[in-house]
Amino acid sequence: MRLRGGTPRPPLPGPPLPDRAPEPSDSVDLPSELKYGGPLDDDVSDPELPFEPYRTKVVERIPNPSREDRERAIERAWYNLFNLRSDEIRIDLLTDSGTGAMSDHQWAAMMVGDETYAGSRNFARFESTVRSITGFPYVLPAHQGRAAEHLLFSALCRPGDIVPNNMHFDTTQAHVLHQGAKAINLAIPEAYDTQSDYPFKGNVDIGSLEHLLDRTDRGRVPLVMVTVTNNTGGGQPVSLANFREVARVARAHSIPLYLDMCRWAENAYFVREREPGMSGRSIAEIGRGFFDLADGATMSAKKDGLVNIGGFVATRDAALADRMKETLILYEGFPTYGGLARRDLEAVAVGLGEAMDLEYLAHRVGQVRYLASLLDRAGVPFLHPPGGHGIYLDVRRFLPHLPPEDLPGQALAVEIYLEGGVRTVEIGAIMFPQSELAPSGSIELVRLAIPRRSYSASHLAYVADVIARVYARRSTIRGFEMSYRPERLPHFTAHFRRKGTVASVPPPAVR
Ligand code: F0G
Repeated sequence: MRLRGGTPRPPLPGPPLPDRAPEPSDSVDLPSELKYGGPLDDDVSDPELPFEPYRTKVVERIPNPSREDRERAIERAWYNLFNLRSDEIRIDLLTDSGTGAMSDHQWAAMMVGDETYAGSRNFARFESTVRSITGFPYVLPAHQGRAAEHLLFSALCRPGDIVPNNMHFDTTQAHVLHQGAKAINLAIPEAYDTQSDYPFKGNVDIGSLEHLLDRTDRGRVPLVMVTVTNNTGGGQPVSLANFREVARVARAHSIPLYLDMCRWAENAYFVREREPGMSGRSIAEIGRGFFDLADGATMSAKKDGLVNIGGFVATRDAALADRMKETLILYEGFPTYGGLARRDLEAVAVGLGEAMDLEYLAHRVGQVRYLASLLDRAGVPFLHPPGGHGIYLDVRRFLPHLPPEDLPGQALAVEIYLEGGVRTVEIGAIMFPQSELAPSGSIELVRLAIPRRSYSASHLAYVADVIARVYARRSTIRGFEMSYRPERLPHFTAHFRRKGTVASVPPPAVR
């Protein structure tokens, strides 16, 4: 099967591949009736109301908790939206990770699971798919992105090391810190300006990277990482030109370069749309443009792998792969399943291909833009331009009367939930208490992450309406404080209370 007419299907790659071997970039095994990578008519690429290129085969009833139910639920949850139960939520925009709908082809793939402990044929297909997309010869499966991060950072980082990234996401930063290393964010200044419409706000500040590497011992920087798209900074893309510069600088300092490729297909879609000379390229080709410049990648397949669970780390470095394999066996499982059922690997292989479908991506990015346009009409302030996987409300503009110590992001997320049962997540002072995130507290966001292929335009219209209602009564919103702060990744398990109130029930035991 082919991505584009005229390109012969290459033989399955077998280990080991020569270093940086030129690999065909569009050799993913896909259902032939889906014309992935083909041209896209202008009229479907960016409509005001995005056309859903799928229809419903299985449905899931959406709960409808009353206002009283929601009030009870959020109090019981210690005002932490992570503690809510799914039946207490009407629209769940907490995360786009592992929350999407799998396709009929993916469910069919689950049925051909070969649950062999070692040497499953599902692993062979998974490995060859990842190799053909990325060109990285060594592929280690992991149950999700943070497991892949654990493998990579525990193999490469030592206490006192420095890891530069455009912006670390929460688990990435936590894994760097867990190794005793320091996570440094080097995004361009535009990334911190929520009103800038710069097309590649995920880009790395090349001058700052050069400066950092010039004044740091080579031995203290085990890798440079770039996250595509930049989740923390609004799901914003990185341009291929910028990544080429990062690669040049990293190579000049003999430092390996890794991609956090969770949302690589969404990033490639933006590159195709915005970068000069890229409009005729397929997502596979653009993705390969990035991978060819890198030494490896970590992946949470729960995003652009279109699955509910799965991930991997891939590299060109045979010795590193061997080291990571030992940890993989210790923590995850044998290297042909990596903590997953083998059928999950088959679903990832199919999902990676589907994520490159241009019509799917046009709809995906189109949904975010649709929600943005509705919010814009209501005057709601959010980070511009809309990113690949969600809208990030600009909390400082939304609640200018609340100072940072009143945890305005949390206050806003709670109000949105109370107003209409919509669950969002704070990306600000609570998620990133370390000042390394940004020039001290300069970014305070509430993210509305859109799960893949799950919600319709009418759901998004409902969300926009809920947020507009909260915006209309914004001046009445009061601040919060933390009543329990765990040491690491506080946003997941912290407890909150409204400022000036005393807890009415004792805190639940936290394990
Ligand atoms: N890297 C990035 C850029 C991410 O966004 C995430 C997860 C991870 C790594 C870790 O992957 O969850 O599979 O272990 N982000 C989710 C989110 C949780 O809501 O943005 P994971």
